[in-house]
Amino acid sequence: MPNNHDLRNDLRFAADDYQSADNRDFTTDAIHGGYHGTSSSVPIYQGNTNYREGYEGTNSYGRGLDKAGGPTSGALEEQVRILEGAEWAQATSCGMSAVSQTLFGLLKSGDRVVCHETVYAGTHMLFQDVLPTKWGVEVQMVNLCELNALETALKKPTRMVYFEPYAHSMEFIDLARATDMAHEAGALVVVDNTFLSPYLLRPLHYGADVVLHAMTKYMAGHGDALAGIVSGRDEEIRKQIHFMRILMGGVLAPMNAFLVHRGLKTLAFRMERHCGSGQKVAEYLDQHKKITRVDYLGLTSHPNHEVATGYLHGFGGMMRFVSKPGVSLDRFLGRLKMCKPWYSLGDVETLILPSGESADGGFRARVSVGLEDPDDIIADLDQALEKA
Ligand SMILES: Cc1ncc(COP(=O)(O)O)c(C=O)c1O
Repeated sequence: MPNNHDLRNDLRFAADDYQSADNRDFTTDAIHGGYHGTSSSVPIYQGNTNYREGYEGTNSYGRGLDKAGGPTSGALEEQVRILEGAEWAQATSCGMSAVSQTLFGLLKSGDRVVCHETVYAGTHMLFQDVLPTKWGVEVQMVNLCELNALETALKKPTRMVYFEPYAHSMEFIDLARATDMAHEAGALVVVDNTFLSPYLLRPLHYGADVVLHAMTKYMAGHGDALAGIVSGRDEEIRKQIHFMRILMGGVLAPMNAFLVHRGLKTLAFRMERHCGSGQKVAEYLDQHKKITRVDYLGLTSHPNHEVATGYLHGFGGMMRFVSKPGVSLDRFLGRLKMCKPWYSLGDVETLILPSGESADGGFRARVSVGLEDPDDIIADLDQALEKA
């Protein structure tokens, strides 16, 4: 049985001395980062209060801890901090809590934000419906794929530029150039990198001030834990966001921290498979007679393919397609035998989400290509499209 002293030692694991100082590979950091303790998996410390040296008083309380939300999520934060190349990482209860803690932490009434026009729907609602009307923040939605439009938008004093480099519209934003332009105008850059994960893109390396993720998606990877994370370098920024985590709540529960920590160990391998299968599925859909358009960064026909190639060694598993008019969405979804017509993305299963009608009456659908054999995914799509 461990005595109190042993437990205290184990509780120090998040700050343990595994560092990626020897230029280890991402795969190695993902496996060892954040927990180098005495068990083969990170322990789940379920307690609301966990005494640790240096974390006395309210700092040992799960919502109040100075940096970690608890030892298990502290281990996860350290793992992500290493993977992002960040100075700090703060885990949150889901992706939207990462978004809201960041925005409420860094913005105040009278500030102005320039946001890419097609961010995640929940984020879009915050920017469009909540921040301007209830918090007095001016928001301009702009297509940041057009850097000229960003340049024009930045002529007015701006506190923050916010975007998803690979956004819900399946467009890719030139991260380094957009970041440089924002910085020249004196604005902070906040990036939601959920669609790509730190394995494919590390925005802090290109100068972004804050990167956040819905870890619910690729980082956890198995559809079994809602979770979010915010990372960065500047200590003042960390403090402002952390203050919101204390006041708004939204800390990550220990069990979910454990699941994401475990999921991250295989992120690199899963992402390689998502990329390989994504390419195959996109090429299949692209030549299908009932499909008029496929938006996938890995296709040379994608307008942002070349820009993305400068940043990415793989194009992930997210794509969108448009059917010919007259092809039935209901029949297509109803005939799927393996792929799931479910919300969410980045899971082991292939997920298909209807996303409205095209101008000529076809349907649009988003595909999150899973980890099944790509030929099996294609076979399922093929038989469903055949009868749709
Ligand atoms: C890009 C992006 N950011 C944030 C979120 C919100 O994540 P969560 O559902 O974990 O709150 C999502 C959800 O789909 C997303 O796609």
